[in-house]
Amino acid sequence: MSNRILINADISQARISKHIYGHFAEHLGRCIYEGIWVGEESSIPNTKGIRKDVLEALRAIRIPVLRWPGGCFADEYHWKDGIGPYERRKRMVNTHWGGVIENNHFGTHEFMLLCELLECEPYICGNVGSGTVQEMSEWVEYMTFDGESPMANWREENGREKPWRLTYFGVGNENWGCGGHMRPEYYADLYRRYQTYVRNYGNNRIFKIAGGANVDDYNWTEVLMKHAGGLMDGLSLHYYTIPGDFWLGKGSALDFDTDEWFATMKRALHMDELISRHGAIMDKYDPDKRVGLIIDEWGTWFDVEPGTNPGFLYQQNSIRDALVAALHFNIFHKHADRVHMTNIAQTVNVLQAMILTEGDNMILTPTYHIFDMFKVHQDAELLSVESTLGNFEHQGQELPQVTVSASKDHEGRIHLSLVNIDLGQEAEIYVEVRGLDAVELQPVGRILTAKHMNDHNTFEQPNTVAPAPFEQVVADKAGLKLRLPAMSAVTLCLN
Ligand code: AHR
Repeated sequence: MSNRILINADISQARISKHIYGHFAEHLGRCIYEGIWVGEESSIPNTKGIRKDVLEALRAIRIPVLRWPGGCFADEYHWKDGIGPYERRKRMVNTHWGGVIENNHFGTHEFMLLCELLECEPYICGNVGSGTVQEMSEWVEYMTFDGESPMANWREENGREKPWRLTYFGVGNENWGCGGHMRPEYYADLYRRYQTYVRNYGNNRIFKIAGGANVDDYNWTEVLMKHAGGLMDGLSLHYYTIPGDFWLGKGSALDFDTDEWFATMKRALHMDELISRHGAIMDKYDPDKRVGLIIDEWGTWFDVEPGTNPGFLYQQNSIRDALVAALHFNIFHKHADRVHMTNIAQTVNVLQAMILTEGDNMILTPTYHIFDMFKVHQDAELLSVESTLGNFEHQGQELPQVTVSASKDHEGRIHLSLVNIDLGQEAEIYVEVRGLDAVELQPVGRILTAKHMNDHNTFEQPNTVAPAPFEQVVADKAGLKLRLPAMSAVTLCLN
């Protein structure tokens, strides 16, 4: 069977929100401390305590939004512990993640500085599980009130006169689990109450996000939409790609076989069904799609690297992770009319990270490179695509071998992204572009691929998996003919 793709360059389906390329950084393991924050006294080059190398790398992928401080940590976080002179900040135990000391040196001011330096939008997750309505309301006042008020005055005493712009606020995290083990009915009521006091001061407009479902808990979405849908701008969803079993053994990040490769891809592709089904419930209550689906935790979750703290969730990252990320982006684009934001877990040194650090060294993971290659889709118009593509067969099971997505940016450039998850078979693909003159086709692109399924980058060999120019494409009057190697992701600018 020949693989064919038809891009309808004149049929745009939705805008791919740049926030789909968002990130998540929690006070967990070495994500914030060491990974992002080293403090001004550190010998590691930093800007007011934030590592310069990490800043630069994240700026290069145009990180649009950053979620903080958790995760499970959010529902144990009391923001007042993290402001004012460092020596007076409360030292506490990070009970959820490794039982280590949290000195609260990275708090609201430091996070907002990070977002300013990254030129990204802040997404703060508030504490419902163990915090009060007053505490949440005062945090919003502290950050956004312009003028005379107890919290604004306090902010000024702590060195920041002008309020910050706060765009996104989450009312709790995983309130069905670490955020309080609540029933959806109970959380829906709490959401209604807490969100009332998440105020819009001055010109600041907050996009309020309700804590959403775990994986396929469709009842959670139903109850939340029914009882609180009108009071939210976004509803979250968490789903991790785990090839094994969450409790019995998730599988190794590097030492895996072809069965685990297949299982990983299958589970990553499951995101499509989850969005469709949660989306269908949302459609029932919100047919105009006003409420965004916010997938604020996704990515691979493997067993921690041998010898590392089990509470730190440190894992390596291979070409397998890169293709999981690429598959997700093609899925998120497909649902761009409902998916407003997603945040991969997590930015540095935790789970499916973009960056790994060791002292003053830093490496970029294969997943980082996918974010870099796919950023061309940020805020572009999703184009309609029709395709006939083959399957990846493994031990009598099948998955789609190639997934595809196309968009048109502000300048009329058309970008195509393709992922081939097959371990051994390349895909020869014919691409036709309707609505664009064949002479305009001047494809230029990049490819990320590897020789072995567990190839990855190390501090000794940081560029084993790195993007290269994509040359296996030719244009003729009929369109394009390209060869997509096994285990690869490609982004192409067509004109
Ligand atoms: O990302 C790690 C953890 O996974 C988060 O803290 C929590 O929300 C989820 O269960």
